[in-house]
Amino acid sequence: MLKIAIASDHGGFALKEKIKEHLLKRGFSVEDLGTYSEESVDYPVYGKACGEAVASGKADLGVVICGTGIGISIAANKIKGIRCGLCTSVEMAHLTKQHNNANILALGGRTTGVDLAVKIVDEWLDTEYEGGRHQRRVEMLDRM
Ligand code: RB5
Repeated sequence: MLKIAIASDHGGFALKEKIKEHLLKRGFSVEDLGTYSEESVDYPVYGKACGEAVASGKADLGVVICGTGIGISIAANKIKGIRCGLCTSVEMAHLTKQHNNANILALGGRTTGVDLAVKIVDEWLDTEYEGGRHQRRVEMLDRM
């Protein structure tokens, strides 16, 4: 079973707890890299931690959450080999796996409700990367 690393700042903490519960219910192995409360913390720390877990192979995939998903996705994308897609719709989740082969999904805890966030996570997990014409572009990203 895939191992999924999950991390958030305080703005994403509540949604992280819900997504973690959902992933465990689906049978995934989950590594929670924090944060562990609503006390204010710095999102770059958590985006980096999740990015490093996935890039090193300690986790197969990752989910990062801050207030908007923006800051923590920027942080995760600084790690070589990470393709983190910030998604606000099920269609975006589908396409970021199908075309970008996103290995980390970013969500906004203050901008996306729990029900939609769960649907986004499921769509991203259940969609297959298409390869083909997208492979060259993904390789270009990975060389950056
Ligand atoms: C923290 O208040 C907030 O800036 C953070 O969660 C995130 O939205 C940053 O992009």
